[in-house]
Amino acid sequence: MAPTAATVTPAGSAPTTEEELQKTIAKLASLKPLGHTNHKDGRTKFGKEASWIESLPEPARQRFERHGIDLSGGYPITPDPDLIPKFVDEAFAVRNEDYAYIERGKNADPEKKALFGAAKEVKHLTKHLGTEIVGLQLSDLNDKQKDELALLVAERVVVFFRDQDLAPQKQLELGKYWGQVEIHPQVPRVPNGVNGDDLNGITVIWQDYSRAVNGLDLSFKHAIGGNSQWHTDLVHEHQPAGITHLHNDTIPEVGGDTVWSSGYAAYDKLSPALQQFLDGKTAIYRSAHQYIDRENPLRGPKPILREHALVRTHPATGWKSLYVNKAMTVRIVGLEPEESKLILDYLFSIYEKNLDIQVRFNWKPSKPGLGTSAIWDNRISQHNAVWDHEGLEPRHGTRVTSLAEIPYFDPNSKSQRQALGLSLD
Ligand SMILES: [Fe+2]
Repeated sequence: MAPTAATVTPAGSAPTTEEELQKTIAKLASLKPLGHTNHKDGRTKFGKEASWIESLPEPARQRFERHGIDLSGGYPITPDPDLIPKFVDEAFAVRNEDYAYIERGKNADPEKKALFGAAKEVKHLTKHLGTEIVGLQLSDLNDKQKDELALLVAERVVVFFRDQDLAPQKQLELGKYWGQVEIHPQVPRVPNGVNGDDLNGITVIWQDYSRAVNGLDLSFKHAIGGNSQWHTDLVHEHQPAGITHLHNDTIPEVGGDTVWSSGYAAYDKLSPALQQFLDGKTAIYRSAHQYIDRENPLRGPKPILREHALVRTHPATGWKSLYVNKAMTVRIVGLEPEESKLILDYLFSIYEKNLDIQVRFNWKPSKPGLGTSAIWDNRISQHNAVWDHEGLEPRHGTRVTSLAEIPYFDPNSKSQRQALGLSLD
């Protein structure tokens, strides 16, 4: 569906002269060539951020060296600035076409015997979301277990694995099994393997780096930004994010938790009348990054805008989920701006304020030298990384996101509580 940029107020200050426009373009471009880039002639060009290899936390360095990641060219890798889209239409065109998606959870054994049978313990962390699996290495899963894990994630929103010796190569392989892996045109990534393994698609999640290099504004008084706010990943994609797998190899001794909130339960919190009003509606979603509007370049940077189902049906569970988040849902299509704002603010508050539909996870403990994985479904959740460690201890991880289907609303689908026969009061 076409974006409707004209109705959205662009963020950021607007350049007013051609000279300022050129400065804006240069500034946008300068945000990209961080670290180093591999040039067409095979040479590696180092930028000032190549020194970040010295700051790489020791557990992360050991993990990368153990699994044959090539750190000789610096860390992290950033995209070639020549290949980064500068204009909204260029960025909008990335993956702007239908592609095949196989829902791995759809035909999995509902009892998940292969997965649970191999685990030492399966612990539900709250009544309806969040499950920890103990005694299994993600890198050892067979396809049947991967299917069952996809279904478990679809049912429980987020699933955790501690004490993982996870090669980035294995993390990418798992992500590819669950869908097309998102390759972000801008963000830093893990270098390739020393044996030439192409590891494009493994995003570096390292807020110390983002603060220092990209200017991410996070402090005690301003602890909202980046991943530290309620959001859902990659909602602006034509086929937005399904399963995301974040593996944290470096975790603060105390703090640095992440909180997830359930979209199934957020929908179930609404009155039948409001549910009926929202069913079948669509909304406009924005990207986290911004670009230049070619048609109106003096208006300042704009995000990618995409229209999706506001209430969506999960293809594996068949349950309805409220697909909104404060950071990236711009407005409800068909409503006046004031009406849309009023309703969206209420929907955001349902997600954010109800503790009974959330799970908060502390990534420790993990055995020394090993890391912890969280695998969640963005179609049915929001998440928020808590910034209480204030960057005083390192927190570093690698993220792989599997893109899923075009969001759809099935009018015959049920809510989670309807499907499970739970009280609707
Ligand atoms: Fe996120």
